[in-house]
Amino acid sequence: SDIEKGTYPHYMLKEIDEQPAVLRKIIQAYQDDNGNLTIDPAILTALKEADRLYIIAAGTSYHAGLVGKEYFEKIAGIPVEVHISSEFGYNIPLLSKKPLFIFITQSGETADSRQVLVKVKKMGYPSLTVTNVQGSTLSREADHTLLLHAGPEIAVASTKAYVAQIAVLAIAATVFAESQALPVGFDLTQELGIVANAVQAMVDAKDEMEQIARDFLEVTRNAFFIGRQLDYHVSLEGALKLKEISYIQAEGFAGGELKHGTIALIEEGTPVFALATQEEVSLNIRGNVKEVVARGANPCIISMAGLDEEGDTLVIPHVHPLLTPLVSVVPLQLISYYASLHRGCDVDKPRNLAKSVTVE
Ligand code: G6P
Repeated sequence: SDIEKGTYPHYMLKEIDEQPAVLRKIIQAYQDDNGNLTIDPAILTALKEADRLYIIAAGTSYHAGLVGKEYFEKIAGIPVEVHISSEFGYNIPLLSKKPLFIFITQSGETADSRQVLVKVKKMGYPSLTVTNVQGSTLSREADHTLLLHAGPEIAVASTKAYVAQIAVLAIAATVFAESQALPVGFDLTQELGIVANAVQAMVDAKDEMEQIARDFLEVTRNAFFIGRQLDYHVSLEGALKLKEISYIQAEGFAGGELKHGTIALIEEGTPVFALATQEEVSLNIRGNVKEVVARGANPCIISMAGLDEEGDTLVIPHVHPLLTPLVSVVPLQLISYYASLHRGCDVDKPRNLAKSVTVE
Protein backbone atom coordinates (compact mmCIF):
# COMPACT_ATOMS: atom_id res chain seq x y z
CA SER A 1 0.00 0.00 0.00
CA ASP A 2 0.82 3.70 -0.13
CA ILE A 3 2.17 3.85 3.38
CA GLU A 4 4.43 0.83 3.28
CA LYS A 5 8.12 1.20 2.64
CA GLY A 6 8.24 -1.75 0.25
CA THR A 7 11.81 -2.27 -0.88
CA TYR A 8 12.91 1.18 0.31
CA PRO A 9 15.27 1.40 3.29
CA HIS A 10 13.56 4.61 4.44
CA TYR A 11 10.26 6.40 3.97
CA MET A 12 12.15 9.57 3.13
CA LEU A 13 13.78 7.99 0.08
CA LYS A 14 10.45 6.53 -1.03
CA GLU A 15 8.76 9.90 -0.64
CA ILE A 16 11.50 11.69 -2.58
CA ASP A 17 11.06 9.12 -5.35
CA GLU A 18 7.30 9.63 -5.42
CA GLN A 19 7.61 13.31 -6.34
CA PRO A 20 7.23 13.01 -10.13
CA ALA A 21 4.09 10.90 -9.61
CA VAL A 22 2.76 13.38 -7.04
CA LEU A 23 3.15 16.22 -9.54
CA ARG A 24 1.26 14.24 -12.19
CA LYS A 25 -1.44 13.35 -9.67
CA ILE A 26 -1.87 17.02 -8.76
CA ILE A 27 -2.22 18.04 -12.41
CA GLN A 28 -4.93 15.40 -12.82
CA ALA A 29 -6.70 16.27 -9.60
CA TYR A 30 -7.00 19.93 -10.60
CA GLN A 31 -8.05 19.31 -14.22
CA ASP A 32 -11.62 19.63 -15.43
CA ASP A 33 -13.19 17.40 -18.09
CA ASN A 34 -11.67 19.55 -20.83
CA GLY A 35 -8.18 19.23 -19.40
CA ASN A 36 -8.10 22.81 -18.10
CA LEU A 37 -6.77 23.52 -14.61
CA THR A 38 -9.51 24.52 -12.23
CA ILE A 39 -10.11 25.19 -8.52
CA ASP A 40 -13.23 25.50 -6.36
CA PRO A 41 -15.09 28.65 -7.59
CA ALA A 42 -15.69 29.66 -3.96
CA ILE A 43 -11.91 29.92 -3.54
CA LEU A 44 -11.66 32.07 -6.68
CA THR A 45 -14.30 34.37 -5.19
CA ALA A 46 -12.43 34.54 -1.87
CA LEU A 47 -9.21 35.45 -3.73
CA LYS A 48 -11.03 38.09 -5.77
CA GLU A 49 -12.53 39.68 -2.68
CA ALA A 50 -9.20 39.81 -0.84
CA ASP A 51 -6.98 42.88 -0.99
CA ARG A 52 -4.08 40.97 0.60
CA LEU A 53 -3.22 37.38 1.36
CA TYR A 54 -1.66 36.35 4.68
CA ILE A 55 0.12 33.04 4.37
CA ILE A 56 0.60 31.40 7.77
CA ALA A 57 2.75 28.30 8.23
CA ALA A 58 5.57 26.58 10.11
CA GLY A 59 8.73 24.73 9.12
CA THR A 60 8.91 23.41 5.59
CA SER A 61 5.38 24.62 4.89
CA TYR A 62 6.56 28.17 5.69
CA HIS A 63 9.29 27.75 3.08
CA ALA A 64 6.68 26.66 0.53
CA GLY A 65 4.69 29.76 1.49
CA LEU A 66 7.64 31.99 0.59
CA VAL A 67 7.54 30.55 -2.93
CA GLY A 68 3.74 30.79 -3.01
CA LYS A 69 3.95 34.52 -2.27
CA GLU A 70 5.89 35.01 -5.49
CA TYR A 71 3.18 33.19 -7.46
CA PHE A 72 0.27 35.16 -6.04
CA GLU A 73 2.12 38.44 -6.54
CA LYS A 74 3.76 37.80 -9.93
CA ILE A 75 1.05 35.69 -11.60
CA ALA A 76 -2.16 36.77 -9.84
CA GLY A 77 -1.25 40.35 -8.89
CA ILE A 78 -2.37 40.00 -5.25
CA PRO A 79 -0.09 41.37 -2.47
CA VAL A 80 1.01 38.69 -0.01
CA GLU A 81 2.62 38.53 3.40
CA VAL A 82 4.12 35.28 4.68
CA HIS A 83 4.30 34.72 8.42
CA ILE A 84 5.62 32.09 10.78
CA SER A 85 2.54 30.91 12.64
CA SER A 86 4.01 30.98 16.16
CA GLU A 87 5.13 34.60 15.76
CA PHE A 88 1.93 35.75 14.09
CA GLY A 89 -0.25 34.25 16.79
CA TYR A 90 1.19 36.42 19.53
CA ASN A 91 1.96 39.50 17.52
CA ILE A 92 -0.72 40.14 14.90
CA PRO A 93 0.50 42.82 12.48
CA LEU A 94 -1.65 45.64 11.17
CA LEU A 95 -3.98 43.96 8.70
CA SER A 96 -5.34 45.18 5.39
CA LYS A 97 -9.07 45.88 5.03
CA LYS A 98 -9.95 42.60 3.31
CA PRO A 99 -7.44 39.92 4.25
CA LEU A 100 -7.66 36.27 3.22
CA PHE A 101 -5.73 33.90 5.47
CA ILE A 102 -4.03 30.96 3.81
CA PHE A 103 -2.78 28.20 6.11
CA ILE A 104 -0.21 25.90 4.59
CA THR A 105 0.13 22.72 6.63
CA GLN A 106 1.01 19.21 5.52
CA SER A 107 -0.66 17.59 8.51
CA GLY A 108 -3.43 20.10 9.08
CA GLU A 109 -2.77 19.67 12.80
CA THR A 110 0.06 22.06 13.71
CA ALA A 111 -0.96 23.84 16.92
CA ASP A 112 0.95 27.04 16.16
CA SER A 113 -0.96 27.42 12.90
CA ARG A 114 -4.28 26.39 14.39
CA GLN A 115 -4.15 29.05 17.10
CA VAL A 116 -3.85 31.68 14.36
CA LEU A 117 -6.84 30.23 12.54
CA VAL A 118 -8.89 30.30 15.73
CA LYS A 119 -7.96 33.97 16.28
CA VAL A 120 -8.64 35.21 12.77
CA LYS A 121 -11.92 33.34 12.62
CA LYS A 122 -13.00 35.15 15.79
CA MET A 123 -12.05 38.38 14.05
CA GLY A 124 -14.41 37.38 11.22
CA TYR A 125 -11.83 36.89 8.46
CA PRO A 126 -12.07 34.26 5.70
CA SER A 127 -9.60 31.37 5.56
CA LEU A 128 -8.23 28.71 3.26
CA THR A 129 -6.19 25.68 4.30
CA VAL A 130 -3.74 24.03 1.91
CA THR A 131 -3.18 20.58 3.37
CA ASN A 132 -2.33 16.99 2.61
CA VAL A 133 -4.88 15.60 5.04
CA GLN A 134 -8.55 15.71 4.19
CA GLY A 135 -10.64 16.11 7.35
CA SER A 136 -7.70 17.43 9.39
CA THR A 137 -8.38 20.06 12.04
CA LEU A 138 -7.22 23.06 9.99
CA SER A 139 -9.13 21.80 6.97
CA ARG A 140 -12.35 21.36 8.95
CA GLU A 141 -12.08 24.71 10.68
CA ALA A 142 -11.19 26.87 7.67
CA ASP A 143 -13.75 28.12 5.15
CA HIS A 144 -12.00 26.45 2.22
CA THR A 145 -9.49 23.68 1.55
CA LEU A 146 -7.06 22.89 -1.25
CA LEU A 147 -5.73 19.34 -1.05
CA LEU A 148 -2.15 18.38 -1.87
CA HIS A 149 -2.86 14.84 -3.13
CA ALA A 150 0.68 13.84 -2.12
CA GLY A 151 -0.38 10.65 -0.32
CA PRO A 152 0.64 9.98 3.29
CA GLU A 153 3.99 11.49 4.25
CA ILE A 154 5.61 9.41 6.99
CA ALA A 155 9.23 10.60 7.22
CA VAL A 156 9.55 13.47 9.68
CA ALA A 157 11.52 15.54 7.16
CA SER A 158 8.98 16.81 4.66
CA THR A 159 9.82 16.32 0.97
CA LYS A 160 6.93 15.49 -1.34
CA ALA A 161 4.53 17.71 0.64
CA TYR A 162 6.78 20.74 -0.02
CA VAL A 163 6.79 20.06 -3.75
CA ALA A 164 3.02 19.46 -3.68
CA GLN A 165 2.41 22.68 -1.75
CA ILE A 166 4.33 24.73 -4.29
CA ALA A 167 2.58 23.06 -7.23
CA VAL A 168 -0.88 23.61 -5.72
CA LEU A 169 -0.08 27.26 -4.93
CA ALA A 170 1.10 27.74 -8.53
CA ILE A 171 -2.17 26.24 -9.75
CA ALA A 172 -4.29 28.44 -7.47
CA ALA A 173 -2.45 31.62 -8.52
CA THR A 174 -2.60 30.73 -12.21
CA VAL A 175 -6.23 29.62 -12.29
CA PHE A 176 -7.16 32.81 -10.44
CA ALA A 177 -5.19 34.95 -12.92
CA GLU A 178 -6.90 33.21 -15.84
CA SER A 179 -10.32 33.70 -14.23
CA GLN A 180 -9.56 37.44 -14.11
CA ALA A 181 -8.32 37.44 -17.72
CA LEU A 182 -4.85 38.46 -16.53
CA PRO A 183 -2.07 37.58 -18.99
CA VAL A 184 -0.34 34.46 -17.63
CA GLY A 185 1.98 33.87 -20.57
CA PHE A 186 2.55 30.14 -20.08
CA ASP A 187 0.62 26.89 -20.04
CA LEU A 188 0.97 25.66 -16.46
CA THR A 189 -0.19 22.11 -17.23
CA GLN A 190 2.53 21.80 -19.82
CA GLU A 191 5.16 23.47 -17.62
CA LEU A 192 4.33 21.20 -14.65
CA GLY A 193 4.68 18.20 -16.96
CA ILE A 194 8.17 19.41 -17.88
CA VAL A 195 8.89 19.86 -14.16
CA ALA A 196 7.74 16.29 -13.40
CA ASN A 197 10.22 14.97 -15.98
CA ALA A 198 13.00 17.14 -14.56
CA VAL A 199 12.26 15.87 -11.04
CA GLN A 200 12.39 12.33 -12.41
CA ALA A 201 15.84 13.06 -13.85
CA MET A 202 16.96 14.28 -10.40
CA VAL A 203 15.67 11.25 -8.49
CA ASP A 204 17.30 9.03 -11.11
CA ALA A 205 20.66 10.68 -10.37
CA LYS A 206 20.91 9.32 -6.80
CA ASP A 207 24.47 8.08 -7.25
CA GLU A 208 25.56 11.59 -8.15
CA MET A 209 23.81 13.02 -5.07
CA GLU A 210 25.40 10.40 -2.84
CA GLN A 211 28.81 11.34 -4.23
CA ILE A 212 28.10 15.04 -3.57
CA ALA A 213 27.21 14.16 0.04
CA ARG A 214 30.56 12.36 0.32
CA ASP A 215 32.55 15.14 -1.34
CA PHE A 216 31.03 18.03 0.59
CA LEU A 217 29.54 16.79 3.85
CA GLU A 218 31.65 13.84 5.02
CA VAL A 219 33.70 15.63 7.66
CA THR A 220 32.22 19.08 8.04
CA ARG A 221 30.50 20.49 11.14
CA ASN A 222 28.61 23.13 9.20
CA ALA A 223 27.31 24.03 5.75
CA PHE A 224 25.88 27.07 4.03
CA PHE A 225 23.20 27.40 1.39
CA ILE A 226 22.95 30.55 -0.66
CA GLY A 227 20.64 31.78 -3.38
CA ARG A 228 18.89 34.88 -4.59
CA GLN A 229 15.20 35.42 -5.40
CA LEU A 230 13.42 32.04 -5.61
CA ASP A 231 16.74 30.30 -5.01
CA TYR A 232 16.94 32.05 -1.64
CA HIS A 233 13.72 30.40 -0.49
CA VAL A 234 14.97 27.00 -1.62
CA SER A 235 18.28 27.56 0.16
CA LEU A 236 16.33 27.96 3.43
CA GLU A 237 14.61 24.64 2.81
CA GLY A 238 17.89 22.95 1.81
CA ALA A 239 19.50 24.07 5.07
CA LEU A 240 16.50 22.92 7.10
CA LYS A 241 16.55 19.46 5.49
CA LEU A 242 20.24 19.05 6.24
CA LYS A 243 20.02 20.11 9.88
CA GLU A 244 16.89 18.07 10.56
CA ILE A 245 18.29 14.71 9.52
CA SER A 246 22.10 14.94 9.56
CA TYR A 247 22.51 17.34 12.54
CA ILE A 248 25.06 19.29 10.53
CA GLN A 249 24.70 22.94 11.45
CA ALA A 250 23.37 24.56 8.31
CA GLU A 251 22.29 28.04 7.40
CA GLY A 252 20.45 29.26 4.32
CA PHE A 253 20.58 32.89 3.38
CA ALA A 254 20.33 35.41 0.59
CA GLY A 255 23.51 35.73 -1.48
CA GLY A 256 23.52 39.47 -0.95
CA GLU A 257 23.66 39.01 2.83
CA LEU A 258 26.99 37.15 2.73
CA LYS A 259 28.98 40.35 3.05
CA HIS A 260 26.84 41.51 5.97
CA GLY A 261 28.07 38.88 8.35
CA THR A 262 28.01 35.26 7.31
CA ILE A 263 31.13 35.44 5.19
CA ALA A 264 33.06 35.74 8.46
CA LEU A 265 32.25 32.06 9.05
CA ILE A 266 33.79 30.79 5.83
CA GLU A 267 36.95 28.78 6.47
CA GLU A 268 39.15 26.43 4.51
CA GLY A 269 36.87 23.65 3.23
CA THR A 270 33.53 25.07 4.41
CA PRO A 271 30.85 23.64 2.12
CA VAL A 272 28.72 26.27 0.40
CA PHE A 273 25.77 25.10 -1.68
CA ALA A 274 24.96 27.81 -4.19
CA LEU A 275 21.77 27.69 -6.24
CA ALA A 276 21.98 29.43 -9.61
CA THR A 277 18.69 28.92 -11.45
CA GLN A 278 17.54 32.53 -11.74
CA GLU A 279 18.79 34.38 -14.80
CA GLU A 280 18.30 37.90 -13.44
CA VAL A 281 20.67 37.29 -10.53
CA SER A 282 22.98 34.80 -12.17
CA LEU A 283 25.96 37.14 -12.24
CA ASN A 284 25.45 38.16 -8.63
CA ILE A 285 25.30 34.64 -7.27
CA ARG A 286 28.33 33.67 -9.35
CA GLY A 287 30.06 36.65 -7.74
CA ASN A 288 29.13 35.32 -4.29
CA VAL A 289 30.65 31.96 -5.17
CA LYS A 290 33.92 33.70 -6.12
CA GLU A 291 33.90 35.57 -2.81
CA VAL A 292 33.55 32.41 -0.73
CA VAL A 293 36.03 30.47 -2.84
CA ALA A 294 38.57 33.25 -2.28
CA ARG A 295 38.18 32.51 1.44
CA GLY A 296 38.70 28.79 1.07
CA ALA A 297 35.11 27.52 0.71
CA ASN A 298 34.28 24.27 -1.03
CA PRO A 299 31.49 25.36 -3.42
CA CYS A 300 28.77 23.04 -4.66
CA ILE A 301 27.13 24.94 -7.49
CA ILE A 302 23.69 23.76 -8.58
CA SER A 303 22.65 25.62 -11.72
CA MET A 304 20.03 25.16 -14.43
CA ALA A 305 20.59 24.17 -18.04
CA GLY A 306 20.94 27.34 -20.06
CA LEU A 307 22.54 29.20 -17.14
CA ASP A 308 25.22 26.62 -16.39
CA GLU A 309 28.94 27.22 -16.51
CA GLU A 310 31.93 24.97 -16.70
CA GLY A 311 32.77 23.54 -13.30
CA ASP A 312 29.20 23.53 -11.93
CA THR A 313 28.67 20.56 -9.65
CA LEU A 314 25.16 19.73 -10.83
CA VAL A 315 22.96 21.12 -13.59
CA ILE A 316 19.19 20.69 -13.25
CA PRO A 317 17.14 20.43 -16.46
CA HIS A 318 15.68 23.66 -17.81
CA VAL A 319 12.20 24.46 -16.49
CA HIS A 320 10.03 27.59 -16.33
CA PRO A 321 11.94 30.13 -14.17
CA LEU A 322 9.07 30.41 -11.66
CA LEU A 323 8.97 26.64 -11.16
CA THR A 324 12.66 25.98 -10.43
CA PRO A 325 12.06 25.40 -6.67
CA LEU A 326 10.15 22.22 -7.54
CA VAL A 327 13.29 20.80 -9.16
CA SER A 328 16.23 22.38 -7.34
CA VAL A 329 14.97 21.20 -3.94
CA VAL A 330 15.22 17.55 -5.01
CA PRO A 331 19.02 17.30 -5.13
CA LEU A 332 19.12 19.09 -1.76
CA GLN A 333 16.72 16.51 -0.30
CA LEU A 334 18.82 13.66 -1.63
CA ILE A 335 22.12 15.17 -0.54
CA SER A 336 20.69 15.57 2.98
CA TYR A 337 19.39 12.01 2.89
CA TYR A 338 22.81 10.60 2.05
CA ALA A 339 24.59 12.87 4.54
CA SER A 340 22.26 11.52 7.23
CA LEU A 341 22.76 7.94 6.10
CA HIS A 342 26.57 8.27 6.01
CA ARG A 343 26.56 9.65 9.56
CA GLY A 344 24.44 6.79 10.78
CA CYS A 345 21.56 9.03 11.80
CA ASP A 346 17.94 7.93 12.06
CA VAL A 347 16.78 9.31 8.70
CA ASP A 348 13.03 8.92 9.16
CA LYS A 349 12.85 9.76 12.86
CA PRO A 350 15.46 12.37 13.70
CA ARG A 351 16.08 13.06 17.37
CA ASN A 352 13.96 15.71 19.11
CA LEU A 353 11.58 16.14 16.16
CA ALA A 354 7.97 15.15 15.54
CA LYS A 355 6.07 14.80 12.30
CA SER A 356 3.30 17.01 13.50
CA VAL A 357 3.61 19.30 16.46
CA THR A 358 0.34 19.66 18.31
CA VAL A 359 1.64 21.85 21.13
CA GLU A 360 2.31 25.59 20.88
C1 G6P B 1 7.00 19.73 12.12
C2 G6P B 1 7.64 18.84 11.07
C3 G6P B 1 8.09 19.66 9.87
C4 G6P B 1 6.92 20.48 9.34
C5 G6P B 1 6.31 21.36 10.43
C6 G6P B 1 5.02 21.98 9.97
O1 G6P B 1 7.99 20.51 12.73
O2 G6P B 1 8.73 18.14 11.61
O3 G6P B 1 8.55 18.80 8.84
O4 G6P B 1 7.35 21.27 8.26
O5 G6P B 1 6.00 20.58 11.58
O6 G6P B 1 4.08 20.96 9.79
P1 G6P B 1 2.77 21.09 8.95
O7 G6P B 1 2.09 19.75 9.09
O8 G6P B 1 1.97 22.21 9.56
O9 G6P B 1 3.15 21.40 7.56
